Amino acid sequence: MAGTRTQVLRIGTAEEEARALAEAARVLRAGGLVAFPTETVYGLGADATNPDAVRRIFEAKGRPATNPLIVHASEPLMAYECVAEWPEAAQRLAARFWPGPLTLILPRSELIPYIVTAGQPTVGVRVPAQRVARGMIEAFGRPVAAPSANRSTGISPTTASHVLKDLEGRIDLVIDTGQTAVGIESTVVDLMTYHPRILRPGHVTAREIEEATGLHVHEASGPVSEELRSPGQMAVHYAPRTTTVRISAESAARLPERPRAGLLVLGQPGLRIGWRPAARIDLATPGIAAAGLYAALHQLDESELLRIIIVEPPEGPEWLAVRDRVMRASEPEAPYRHHPSIPESGSQAPGSDASG
Ligand code: TXA
Ligand code: MG
Repeated sequence: MAGTRTQVLRIGTAEEEARALAEAARVLRAGGLVAFPTETVYGLGADATNPDAVRRIFEAKGRPATNPLIVHASEPLMAYECVAEWPEAAQRLAARFWPGPLTLILPRSELIPYIVTAGQPTVGVRVPAQRVARGMIEAFGRPVAAPSANRSTGISPTTASHVLKDLEGRIDLVIDTGQTAVGIESTVVDLMTYHPRILRPGHVTAREIEEATGLHVHEASGPVSEELRSPGQMAVHYAPRTTTVRISAESAARLPERPRAGLLVLGQPGLRIGWRPAARIDLATPGIAAAGLYAALHQLDESELLRIIIVEPPEGPEWLAVRDRVMRASEPEAPYRHHPSIPESGSQAPGSDASG
């Protein structure tokens, strides 16, 4: 894969769009790899019905073969052809949320080879809301398998330059439409049991899925139980290369000075700390934080910092999806309670030191 010349097609005008969609369809037909925008993040697409093409996705990303890919369709009819069953809940969710950032896990049909599903009997399908994404799949005429267009374990891309940073020379084409709108990956909901189960939280919430289906929805129940069903949800999965720690807002206010630290503050506008970080980015609301989280992490990761400190968002369901990505991108900050310059709060047990 390395050594491929990566073509970049930026879309400004209608003619550029038509040319890019035709070129993308040509590359996909030839079994190549196209990075394309969706409303969530950029995807790395290949012909979902061609096992050799799909194998190239795993090679380019360095992705373990045990982690299944989402199949993208231009319209619900194309998605139906990828699945063997279409329960009532799927019908209701598709009617309400497609095109949009919701992936449904259903039994796979013969059309989808096992390399896409990592050997599992199920497949994840979605119809993206991004016009260029749907136009590309429509021009190609077949479903497109696409994980996020980053190297495995890296930060998901929300711009074409994020894609190039990780994958230039490893893929055939990048379609560039600028920054994606939603910013974090689709909600993944498992419909293999009567009660839908959320495997990955996202823009579409459990409450909305309950309203649309009339069914009680099981929310993601933690990394251990997810391992079997949604392997990509395991481990630190969206992490910058720079050491990245997370800390509560109240602890941040008492954090001792850290050399060459970058601060990413989520949902605590005006939060004050007693020293000046080398860089600081504030994302105030859940929507702004979702849209800007990965770009902020990419930017801080390129700023030659010794560490990135993420100040966690408040509790509450509106922060769930962002919080999930923060947990995967970071480690908890080691306790620093006995740093000499920091006054004790009184109630905590002794024994931790200031390093970390
Ligand atoms: O918004 C998105 O979903 C983006 C854009 C490109 O569509 N795609 C994306 O793909 O985030 P990826 O591969 O980075 O994440 C797919 C997630 C992984 O956690 C994977 O394990 C899970 O979906 N998944 C895919 N197929 C599955 C299946 N059959 N059963 C359970 N989990 C599945
Ligand atoms: Mg990914």
